[in-house]
Amino acid sequence: MANDMMSRLIPFRRDLHQHPEVGYQEFRTTQKISEMLTDLGITHECAPAGMKTGVVATIGKGEGPLAVLRADIDALPMTEQTNLPFASVTGNTMHACGHDVHTTMLVGAGMLLRNADFNGTVKLVFQPSEEGVNGDPEHKSGGQRMVEGGVIDGAAACVALHVHPLQPVGQLSYAPGEALACASFFQIHIAGKGGHAGAAPHLAIDPILVASHIIQAAQSIVSRNISPTQPAVFSVTRIHGGTSENVIPDDLTMGGTIRAMNTATYDYIVERLRQILHGAEVAYGVRTTLTFTTRYPSVLNDAALNDKLAGPVDAVFGSSNLLVTEPMLAAEDFAFYSRRSPSMFYFIGARDIAEECFFVHHPRVVMNEACIEPGAKFLAAAAQQILKDFA
Ligand code: NI
Repeated sequence: MANDMMSRLIPFRRDLHQHPEVGYQEFRTTQKISEMLTDLGITHECAPAGMKTGVVATIGKGEGPLAVLRADIDALPMTEQTNLPFASVTGNTMHACGHDVHTTMLVGAGMLLRNADFNGTVKLVFQPSEEGVNGDPEHKSGGQRMVEGGVIDGAAACVALHVHPLQPVGQLSYAPGEALACASFFQIHIAGKGGHAGAAPHLAIDPILVASHIIQAAQSIVSRNISPTQPAVFSVTRIHGGTSENVIPDDLTMGGTIRAMNTATYDYIVERLRQILHGAEVAYGVRTTLTFTTRYPSVLNDAALNDKLAGPVDAVFGSSNLLVTEPMLAAEDFAFYSRRSPSMFYFIGARDIAEECFFVHHPRVVMNEACIEPGAKFLAAAAQQILKDFA
């Protein structure tokens, strides 16, 4: 059974890896998942929750609660440099976060669950666009759309796995409570007044000078307004203004990211940023606009659910291979699931056998396929445990 399962899953994963698609463009990926599920006789819906991509599969047996297993299916806009025989053939697109592996593990869980004995329903959620909102008109990621579209309504619990390419295969890890950050991408537009930079700077309102003050002032938010015991980050990561050495431009845009572990801290950073922008308007006579394109709450790991999953953890990994870690200021849109129902988000060890290994989002990151089998088994066992415990 295991060999038969892997002989189908490995080629499936390599095909996904070779043909990655970025968020909300996962048309081929959606089709491949659907073909596999059809082949397995698993009922599913493509393009759920008003989206054009993604799949929700349902395996129901008798009366009982609902367990949700989630995988993300999107890739990143970057060029792969792994030299794998099945490296991406699509320009500027790479499965550098391992979502191809997540998708494959969830299909594997489906293979196991369709033959398993249980009472209740398991939903396999293959979610598009985890990495960002990718042009969504309402700036919503795939996870937010799935949750708001009612896909997980009534779920007793949700579980997701994320590969960790620096952690050895056979390990599982999690941070209790707030595990991954509240995060947003922001843009600031500063409207000033252009003019001659040499002859008449006094007749202009220089948005570049104002931007430099705003950036410096905003750096004081984390250092002087947030408790030193609270993790928080404010980063300006891009700035665009001006076209020439002797012209003060009319306006300028900049963007960056805000992170915090807890929602109140995050909200306070945004409030202080608004005050600083208002202050700049008063002090310099500019007009400023603050917009957000992506905003994820923090992932909340449920300790009670983790306790309930001790059996499946022990059976698949051995209880000593479950590590408790510090939270991380990365963002994950599984956060939306975790804010709706009790959830657990685990990192699963996927370290390659090579000497030099890289973290996710690196052009040379390689995931070890040996994590797929335990990942699939754990997801299937976790769903069955949830159905038993919440019956
Ligand atoms: Ni990811």
